[in-house]
Amino acid sequence: MKVAAFLGSPRVGGNSEILLKEAIRAVEDAGHKVTLMRPHAMDISPCNNCGGCEETGKCVIEDDMGLVYEAIYESDRFIVASPIFFFGLPSQIKALIDRCQAIWCEKYLLKRPIPAAVYGRKGLLVMVGGMKKEEGFRSGEATAKAFFRTIGVPTHETLYFDGVDAKGAIRDHPTALHNVYEAAKRLVAI
Ligand SMILES: Cc1cc2nc3c(=O)[nH]c(=O)nc-3n(C[C@H](O)[C@H](O)[C@H](O)COP(=O)(O)O)c2cc1C
Repeated sequence: MKVAAFLGSPRVGGNSEILLKEAIRAVEDAGHKVTLMRPHAMDISPCNNCGGCEETGKCVIEDDMGLVYEAIYESDRFIVASPIFFFGLPSQIKALIDRCQAIWCEKYLLKRPIPAAVYGRKGLLVMVGGMKKEEGFRSGEATAKAFFRTIGVPTHETLYFDGVDAKGAIRDHPTALHNVYEAAKRLVAI
C-alpha cells in the first residue's frame, strides 16, 4: 500500500512535523511505503484561476506540483498534518490544495474521477493550534475535506490538538503521539 503524507507547517521540527513523523512511523511499522511532501520546501505556485485545466484536467503551470499529482494518483492512503494559521490551513499547503483544481476539473467537468486505488482510498487529518478555539479546526477541516473528496478519498478521520503553541510542545501532550500512532495504524489496516 502506498501512502502520501503532506506537512502543512513551515516550522522545521514543529508540532505538526512531530505528529506526522509519528504517523509515518506507524505506517512504516505496518510495512508500507510513505511519500512525504513538504510544500513549504517545494516550488508550488498558487492557482491563478486561468482556466487552463478546464478542458484538459491538467494544470498549465510547470513546477513541483507534478510530483504531487503523481503521488496523489499512485497512493491509496493520505495523511495531512498541519497547524492552524489565522483560522485556516497555512498558505503553503493551501496553494498545493488549490492546485488540485486541475483534478477537480478532471473529475467534475471532464467526468474522469481518479480511479479507485487497489486498497480503496482513505485519509487522516491531524491538526494542531495554539488557541483553545474550535473555529480554526472547523475551517481547516472543511478545506482538507474538500481536498480529500476531490482527490477521490471518500472517508477520513480527523484528530486535532488545541492549546499547543511552542515548538515541540506537542511532546508534552498526554496522549497526542499515541492517538496519532493508533489513527495511522487504522488508516493502513485493510
Ligand atoms: C501565522 C500564524 C498564525 C496562527 N494562527 C493561529 C490560529 O488562528 N489559531 C490557532 O489555534 N493557532 C494559531 N497559530 C499558532 C499555531 O497553530 C501553533 O503555534 C502550532 O503549534 C504551530 O504548529 P507547527 O509547530 O507545526 O508549525 C498561528 C501561528 C502562526 C505562526
